[in-house]
Amino acid sequence: MATMESLIGLVNRIQRACTVLGDHGGEGMSLWEALPSVAVVGGQSSGKSSVLESVVGRDFLPRGSGIVTRRPLVLQLHKTDKGQSEYAEFLHAPKKRLTDFAAVRREIQDETDRITGKSKQISNIPIHLSIYSPNVVNLTLIDLPGLTKVAVEGQSESIVEDIENMVRSYVEKPNCIILAISPANQDIATSDAIKLAKEVDPSGERTFGVLTKLDLMDKGTNALDVIEGRSYRLQHPWVGIVNRSQADINKNVDMISARRKECEYFETSPEYGHLSHKMGSEFLAKLLSKHLEIVIRQRIPSIIVLINKTIDELNAELDRIGRPIAVDPGAQLYTTLELCRAFDRVFKEHLD
Ligand code: GDP
Ligand code: MG
Ligand code: NA
Repeated sequence: MATMESLIGLVNRIQRACTVLGDHGGEGMSLWEALPSVAVVGGQSSGKSSVLESVVGRDFLPRGSGIVTRRPLVLQLHKTDKGQSEYAEFLHAPKKRLTDFAAVRREIQDETDRITGKSKQISNIPIHLSIYSPNVVNLTLIDLPGLTKVAVEGQSESIVEDIENMVRSYVEKPNCIILAISPANQDIATSDAIKLAKEVDPSGERTFGVLTKLDLMDKGTNALDVIEGRSYRLQHPWVGIVNRSQADINKNVDMISARRKECEYFETSPEYGHLSHKMGSEFLAKLLSKHLEIVIRQRIPSIIVLINKTIDELNAELDRIGRPIAVDPGAQLYTTLELCRAFDRVFKEHLD
């Protein structure tokens, strides 16, 4: 498993390099597009932020009503050795290790406002955040603005469409794994996440259906038709989730107790007890990480091709502008080139 995990780490590094240095995709598929990641999609208040936080096991996302997520958040989770301390680092503030997750939340808010100017507008420029922790699985998750149906006061009329277009631009990429979040207390036929997933991934091969708010269903009803795949069939199993309620959040119920409560919920549930080992946020995190590893492994040959294409293009560009002497754009290109060569070597080692 050690090699598999380092593969995701490697892809994370390339993703960061692509972001810093611009995507040298040239024609055809770019390197960034070739790298698999997981995008979280769903309607407003469906539980996207809550699911992300339980997968990470930390509180760090801005909350509130309205459109809180207004820029894509690319969240890279890096599993570190046992006993290491946990910290977060933003790509826009490298070398600044944050150990206080309330500060992470404030920085996401501030960095969102820096681009969108405190308006309720959205921007498709992503924020990149890495979390290093012994308690996470290696995974790249992208949090996206929630799909909405109507513009509210202060928002442009086009916001509904703008959000949908932004989300679609991520999920339509063949290498995007879709984490489609639907709340169990609404009819699945009205789910924004499933509607979009169905459109871009009709066979359901890269969609993971997540059903939140199982605890909020009307008494006497249950979600077995959805969870057992009878309402909407996907190729991967549906995962049911019980996140913290708003009351839990107000009472500062921590993530560890929340996970324990979630486990208890499934284990003691008359409806879902028989599925309890395949439910909950911890299971979801492992399922996604395992799937991401498989997908990356399948993509290694095409990633090598793209890395080599990138190396050639960078070389050509360096020849054009001259080799760097000091820190200038050329030096940056040179660094990418070195990086790509290193990636190429390591990827080839992973080919059996
Ligand atoms: P987002 O807008 O999709 O990011 O949704 P949030 O994660 O912010 O959740 C919206 C609200 O629903 C919050 O008040 C959460 O506490 C609550 N919520 C989310 N998931 C669940 C759940 O599984 N059970 C309960 N009871 N409340 C939930
Ligand atoms: Mg949210
Ligand atoms: Na969100």
